[in-house]
Amino acid sequence: MESARIFRYASPFPGPFIASKTRNATAMADKQEIILSGIRPTGRLHFGNYFGAIRNFIRLQEEGHRCFYFIADYHALTTIGEKVDIYGQTIDMVRTYIACGLDPVKSVIYRQSDLPATAEFSLLLGMIVNIGFLERGTTYKDMMAKLSGSDGEMNGNPLTYGLLGYPVLMAADILIVQADKVPVGDDQRQHLEMAIDIAQRFNNRFGETLKPPAPIARDALRLPGLDGAAKMGKSENNDLGLLDDPKTVLAKIKGVQTTTDPLPVKTDSNDPDMLIPEMPPSVGALYRLLHLLAPEEVYLDFVGKYRRGEKFYGTLKTTLADHVNQFNAPIIDAFNAPGNTPDAVREALRENARRVSPIALDTVERTKEAMGLGRSLHRA
Ligand code: TRP
Repeated sequence: MESARIFRYASPFPGPFIASKTRNATAMADKQEIILSGIRPTGRLHFGNYFGAIRNFIRLQEEGHRCFYFIADYHALTTIGEKVDIYGQTIDMVRTYIACGLDPVKSVIYRQSDLPATAEFSLLLGMIVNIGFLERGTTYKDMMAKLSGSDGEMNGNPLTYGLLGYPVLMAADILIVQADKVPVGDDQRQHLEMAIDIAQRFNNRFGETLKPPAPIARDALRLPGLDGAAKMGKSENNDLGLLDDPKTVLAKIKGVQTTTDPLPVKTDSNDPDMLIPEMPPSVGALYRLLHLLAPEEVYLDFVGKYRRGEKFYGTLKTTLADHVNQFNAPIIDAFNAPGNTPDAVREALRENARRVSPIALDTVERTKEAMGLGRSLHRA
């Protein structure tokens, strides 16, 4: 019996990893773009995460790119008020990612804190980043806004050096692996642009050293919450979890507000992007999920019922719950599979930290050299 899946890591990607300046443009290497994205360890993952990011990560992985996906556990520290089990949440999140189809052999999945060269690199980058530039960062600005509205009720002082430096650390994540593309949602676009800016500024000052990533075309979907809010989120408590069991799923979907009768819709289009905005937001959330999860004819059937103003919300909810459960079942199985234990995941993370380290150290050493520090005297 196979009690643990054996991940085979030896050679991360076909062919050696070649640093940007000397990259050899064979057809193969051209196709193999370096993709990097970071995920905050928020604990349980939900449908918003899946359709906004995970699905895209898996597609890029299956297209054969060199994918680096990491858990941004240092970043998690920028906003915590008290001690949280970031480690435990990280392990569970990686188990869920693997259960969804991310593969720690095809993709390099690691913890940010297992690549401490990122912190060193972030320190180096910080030397050329102006405070005024960082004060325009959205994370910092949002915290400022929250603070001014909270009559000083916050834990400690959340306007930390770490939070202000959030975009520098994120730039370090991206530039350290010499990423070509960085798939992120809209809320992270500004941070990505800041990373591009930091790389360019560095190169202008110290010579071509860092590779600014290309801005990526967005194809992430922003899934609404079950309460009809624009975004599904764990902290908003309006999410449908990828590991939710059938009872929970049914209860959550039954709880969605559908008291209003269908209103006449003006558009003839059945395209969810046209139609759903005309529905009450929480009803729209149900149709959005149905469109993603059920066969087209099921979605169209319920669209017809909506247009005709029938009484159908009960069956819409049970039908949707069935499809959600069909979607979740294999993920739940894979989450609990014998090869996907916390121990196996820890081992996978360890191996993957080893795969990414040489690439990262190469960038750090070249950066130190460019800045005039010279290379490390002790690293190989
Ligand atoms: N800031 C990102 C978020 O909150 C997570 C993140 C950290 C990231 N470093 C990154 C994303 C580098 C892309 C690239 O979602």
